[in-house]
Amino acid sequence: MCGIVGYIGQSDCKEILLHGLEKLEYRGYDSAGIAGIDHTGLHISKEKGRIADLRQIVVDSFHPFIGIGHTRWATHGAPSKKNAHPHQSSSKRFTLVHNGVIENYDLIKHSNLDHIHFISDTDTEVIVQLVEKYVEQGMYVEEAFRHSLKRLHGSYAIGLIDAQDSDTLYAAKNRSPLLVGLGDGFNVITSDAIAVLQITNQFLELKDQEVVILKKDRVIITDLYGEIQERKPFTTQLDPSDIDKGTYPHYMLKEIDEQPMVLRKIVQRYQDENGQLIIDREIREAMQKADRIYMIACGTSYHAGLVGKDYLEKFSGIPTEVHIASEFSYNLPLLSQNPLFILISQSGETADSRSVLVKVKEKGYPTLAITNVPDSTLSRESDCTLLLHAGPEIAVASTKAYTAQIAVLALLAVDTAIQKGLPLDFDIFSEFGKIATVMDGLIHNKEIIAKIALNYLQHTRNCFFIGRGLDYYVGLEGALKLKEISYIQCEGFAGGELKHGTIALIEEKTPVIVLVTQESVNLNIRGNAKEVAARGAHVCVIATENLTMDGDAYVLPKVYEPLSPLVSVIPLQLLAYYAALQRGCDVDKPRNLAKSVTVE
Ligand code: M6R
Repeated sequence: MCGIVGYIGQSDCKEILLHGLEKLEYRGYDSAGIAGIDHTGLHISKEKGRIADLRQIVVDSFHPFIGIGHTRWATHGAPSKKNAHPHQSSSKRFTLVHNGVIENYDLIKHSNLDHIHFISDTDTEVIVQLVEKYVEQGMYVEEAFRHSLKRLHGSYAIGLIDAQDSDTLYAAKNRSPLLVGLGDGFNVITSDAIAVLQITNQFLELKDQEVVILKKDRVIITDLYGEIQERKPFTTQLDPSDIDKGTYPHYMLKEIDEQPMVLRKIVQRYQDENGQLIIDREIREAMQKADRIYMIACGTSYHAGLVGKDYLEKFSGIPTEVHIASEFSYNLPLLSQNPLFILISQSGETADSRSVLVKVKEKGYPTLAITNVPDSTLSRESDCTLLLHAGPEIAVASTKAYTAQIAVLALLAVDTAIQKGLPLDFDIFSEFGKIATVMDGLIHNKEIIAKIALNYLQHTRNCFFIGRGLDYYVGLEGALKLKEISYIQCEGFAGGELKHGTIALIEEKTPVIVLVTQESVNLNIRGNAKEVAARGAHVCVIATENLTMDGDAYVLPKVYEPLSPLVSVIPLQLLAYYAALQRGCDVDKPRNLAKSVTVE
């Protein structure tokens, strides 16, 4: 979702801002803009559409040494040039970019700024107008900025420049991600380190309700009352090559291909030299104390949680519930005596999940984040963290994070079983090793899936995924993948549930993708496949080799059955990829979607 980058220094930062915005494109956006000050004054350029469109209108003669840039994912007001950031105060003295949502913007507009003519439909514009109002009333800019922030309810990451002071860049953060990057003779702000990785790997973390005054040679962090806050810089572990597409046409394909490597990396990170699992003592204690686990997540992470529930209950014997974060947040169920909350999130920034975290922390419950991003909000604010070690995931459609989440949840469940002395009939690390090899084979032969996509999905307007048990959960993920990037309307269903209503939608040639990897329900799901075939469905069975039958479209090598989701999801990810490609869709940047959903 919206991305911010800002620079203050001595070089021409136009390219730094534009390049930074390109690196933030993955977050999802519909318009973009930059503003900066050079020796001729302040210039602002913004455009609906892609950064490439913005580049067209930024003039060559503009050489700013201070500037801010923004990618906008519309919340208040349609995607348009008028609503694109940066926004300016009435006199055009102040120019501002904002990521987040100001919940009381309407109240502020009517109670404090009723004489102001607003240009845009955004919530953001009130912030820049408030700053100008307080400056007009006699406050210094820094004071006016802090005073304005105190009026805001909601989330924000902000960059602000003053046309009358090209030596200062102002920033602030509350519940939206923002980092300060440190350089030699320059400093930057960014929503994500990857946007400025080519110029620095040194960063300062910001806490909520902090304000930053950036000069080209120093950075001062204060709270909303002007109290100085000390902060030590950290060096990011991110490598610029991790975010490079290399020779791949799309990040999604690269990330699908990286899954065996990620699984091997998880083994390296979670296994000690004696072959034992490495899990923090604090996490082990929390797992031992928990009488029920509540997993909270959204989208793909929620689907990984469904698989994880199976592991936590079967391997470690802890009753587990999985909840969609946005529902849980406002409908808290009756909780057990000693709950443990596990928040699963690739980005670690998802606002819906964070909202649950804030609420359960207020009640004093223990929390564990499972995330891919070490310094993310969920990681920082939870009691403990388990990392996915999947490397940056750039494509909006999550792939390698899903398999990494399942692998880490399996490790957690196995570790808890070991700590409790419960019997296990498999060695997780050796199973992961075998699965990584199986994944290699599936990825190597991906053109089979490209043909299946052509055969089943090229002209369809809808599609169903069915399975039972773990296959049902994987089917939900397959359906999400396909719908989000190919725009084919599709749903995942429990095989047995179809006949209770959904089967009415099956017509001649409706594609139904059937997953068959679970021996105990093999006959049942085959029966469900027959039911839809009898009504004209174009049935595509993906089955494990020990359960396959004549006519199946795709055969998966057998792995330890509970871990089959790590394997069976790969053809579904590829199916979505090829279907989207064949329909000419923008695979990495699907319409209306954002990678990191930082608004509720
Ligand atoms: O970063 P998170 O895992 O918290 O994100 C949750 C969802 O927004 C995310 O999984 C989304 O569903 C993906 N686009 C799915 O591919």
